Amino acid sequence: MYNPVDPKEKNDIVVLAIESSCDETACAIVKNGREVLASTIATQIEIHKRFGGVVPEIASRNHTMAIETVVNETIEKSGLSIKNIDAIAVTYGAGLLGALLVGVNYAKGLAYAYNKPLYGISHIRGHIAANYIGTDLKPPYLCLLASGGHTAVLNVKSYTEIEALASSKDDAAGEAFDKVARVLSLPYPGGPEIEKLAKQGKANIEMPCPSFTDKDELWFSFSGIKTFVINYAHKLEQKGEEMIREDVAASFQEAAVTQLFNTTLNAAKRTGVKDIAIAGGVSANLCLRSRFDSLKGQGYNIYYPQLKYCTDNAAMIGAEAYYAIKSGKEMSPLSLDAKATVPLK
Ligand code: KG4
Ligand code: ZN
Repeated sequence: MYNPVDPKEKNDIVVLAIESSCDETACAIVKNGREVLASTIATQIEIHKRFGGVVPEIASRNHTMAIETVVNETIEKSGLSIKNIDAIAVTYGAGLLGALLVGVNYAKGLAYAYNKPLYGISHIRGHIAANYIGTDLKPPYLCLLASGGHTAVLNVKSYTEIEALASSKDDAAGEAFDKVARVLSLPYPGGPEIEKLAKQGKANIEMPCPSFTDKDELWFSFSGIKTFVINYAHKLEQKGEEMIREDVAASFQEAAVTQLFNTTLNAAKRTGVKDIAIAGGVSANLCLRSRFDSLKGQGYNIYYPQLKYCTDNAAMIGAEAYYAIKSGKEMSPLSLDAKATVPLK
């Protein structure tokens, strides 16, 4: 039977991580949580584009076809052999069950065949940990997590302890980008497309954005902006007027970024925490990054992942696994199951 990694016994910990929660089949080899020795991402975006979103069954099939090549290619690129790997980490949730199962089962197979300890890792925590790669970020800090499935401001008190300070009452930020993109006839995934189109437009349409007094509970809401855009498009259509898509994209992006920024800044002021990280697919948005950059002269330190580690990847899972191991997380049994939703803890 394989043994857990004892962090006290090892100077360096090398993790082979697998991620297959949605439409990217990914593997990475990460040393000590911060150094990526190799990373491979096989994306299915082109396959799902024609359906306007991810089709779960098709995603699972394509993970099955890709996973072996992706893992082998990653090991080859790292110049290591499986013998040099200390642990196998895998995203066990949150995500599409069928898609997750492909990665989880492959990881179990590797752990069993090569006698390596297995660690089931949360996708959400992985996104946050993407900020450790190549940086000196250490808890405590605040993290704005904005992905296709989650939007929250998290107080990362230690590598293991995370408290939610604000979360979305309805849609996630990335989901809103994707839905508004559809109204604008842009392909999936909508976030990068809206960002591109917005560059040619003016943010001259006022869209709903929550505001808070000092004592209010903090939250996000994106369904209001989405509905606004749908109604706006319908009204123009009824009047026979043309919609200036560039301006709608710029105005939507402005409203979404303002909301993400304001709620996070409010949380930062309340907690007094000066280190702020952003994470998840939406953290790739340059308009969002530049808004946070504006805080740099005001005593705040701003962190975001390298662009390639903002959207789904396995390096972030390897980074999170390292800190989980260092913090004494128990290894997972070979009966580890995939979960569609997972708690933050
Ligand atoms: O983190 P992620 O890859 O997957 C989830 O865990 O959900 O996030 C995907 C989301 C999609 O909704 C996508 O439209 C959005 O992130 N996204 C962006 C950008 N790049 C990806 N949103 C805004 N601007 C971007 N540049
Ligand atoms: Zn993700």
